[in-house]
Amino acid sequence: MATALSRTEVYSLLSLSLACCGILANTLQGDGEPLIASIAFSGLAFSCCYALIRWLGSAFMRAGFKGKDLCKLRQTEIPETMGAVCAMVYLLIIVIFIPWPFYKDIVAATSGGGNRDVMRELEQVETGRLLHKFPHNKLASYLSATLSLHTIVLLGIGDDLFDIRWRHKVLIPAIAAIPMLIVYFVDFGVTQMVVPTPLRPYLGELFDLGWLYYVYMALLSIFSSNSINILAGINGIEVAQSLVIALLIVLNDALYLCFTPYPNPATDSHLFSLYLLLPFIGVSVALLMHNWYPAKVFVGDTYCYFAGMVFAVDGILGHFSKTLILLLLPQGFNFVYSAPQLFHIVPCPRHRLPHFNARTGLLECSRVEFKKPLARPIAESLKLLHRLRMLDVETDERGDVVSSSNFTIINLWLVWFGPMREDRLALGLLALQTALGLLGLFIRHRMALLVFTQDNW
Ligand code: UD1
Ligand code: MG
Repeated sequence: MATALSRTEVYSLLSLSLACCGILANTLQGDGEPLIASIAFSGLAFSCCYALIRWLGSAFMRAGFKGKDLCKLRQTEIPETMGAVCAMVYLLIIVIFIPWPFYKDIVAATSGGGNRDVMRELEQVETGRLLHKFPHNKLASYLSATLSLHTIVLLGIGDDLFDIRWRHKVLIPAIAAIPMLIVYFVDFGVTQMVVPTPLRPYLGELFDLGWLYYVYMALLSIFSSNSINILAGINGIEVAQSLVIALLIVLNDALYLCFTPYPNPATDSHLFSLYLLLPFIGVSVALLMHNWYPAKVFVGDTYCYFAGMVFAVDGILGHFSKTLILLLLPQGFNFVYSAPQLFHIVPCPRHRLPHFNARTGLLECSRVEFKKPLARPIAESLKLLHRLRMLDVETDERGDVVSSSNFTIINLWLVWFGPMREDRLALGLLALQTALGLLGLFIRHRMALLVFTQDNW
């Protein structure tokens, strides 16, 4: 990989960074303008991440963070765990960003004149000190989000270093979710779900899940991070699917912010969601430019966990976890579809990524061979899936199942549409993700009226 930045790259990154710094300096003259500042920070995040990926690539390889690109004729080694660079840049940026969303409140709380109205004077008399209306709860929310993300990154890097076992891995995100669940508990504490109209006669209008709601949120964190890691293995797919999801959430937030009259309690949660997502988009685009086919770096498990956790934190603290689930439908399907292999009902090879056919240069579905005969019900289920074109099963002359395609939607796509080049495969899956996501949002806002009495934007 070319490690030095070309002259054009240097000039483009420099001018982008300068423009962003200019915008940031300007925001401090007004009210802080947090949304504009967040966009400028995302530009900075992009430039830093882009340059660092180049500069640190060889250092990462020397430290042992490298992997072979298995879907290529020449399986050269390239830097892995570049998601760690993304995550570091991202975490630093969202920490530096903290003063902006609270700029107005900081000014109001620290400067006396003009803000100290009669009410404040009265409060001061009662308590003996100036009671600021500083939104500590919002700051707590924001800080708990960064803490959860920090934890997941630590654990992600640990996994990239030591290949932690699956059964330990799944719990990692649940632990990382604790800080934000506490804040949710203290601050928001709503554990009720609105019941769809057809079920209301049985469950009532609201159904209180109680502590189960916290289990649900912890499970969402586990699901969201692990599901991205198992929809992986071809160049660009991990980052690109995360980008599609992030952009769809941004679209959802933007639609909300544009179409709802301002003083509204939900405005803040959608802004909060944007502050977390825009820099994420910045670092992800920089990574994608190096990870897209033919990949020059790999993202590592750190990126997959980190991206999933960004969505979980965003959905939970932004109060749109159900919408998030709609956007994760392909991941959800892949998870369920993978379950027989994940839970070792059928054998699961170390890698399930597609098989590279050196003669044609195209990817074909990879297969799992069944050395031992399968139990009858399992064999029959596989044959049924084969007839439904949901799997490609090979049988011997006696009718025993000897092999099948691996249980991932990446392989299923190849079963459906035949061998294809790596980037076409990734583009196909991304088109599916985008189409389903848009449909999900449409259903969320249009059809919500059919199953719920109102659309709670
Ligand atoms: C998960 C999947 C595994 C898949 C792997 C690929 C499950 C249970 N596990 O495992 O089936 O094979 O991700 O990421 O579903 N690689 C490429 N090209 C790419 C990306 C990765 O060849 O575009 C290879 C590289 O050799 C790289 C390795 O995959 O070093 C990374 O695998 P890793 O992330 O460690 O695998 P898991 O997350 O454990
Ligand atoms: Mg992985």
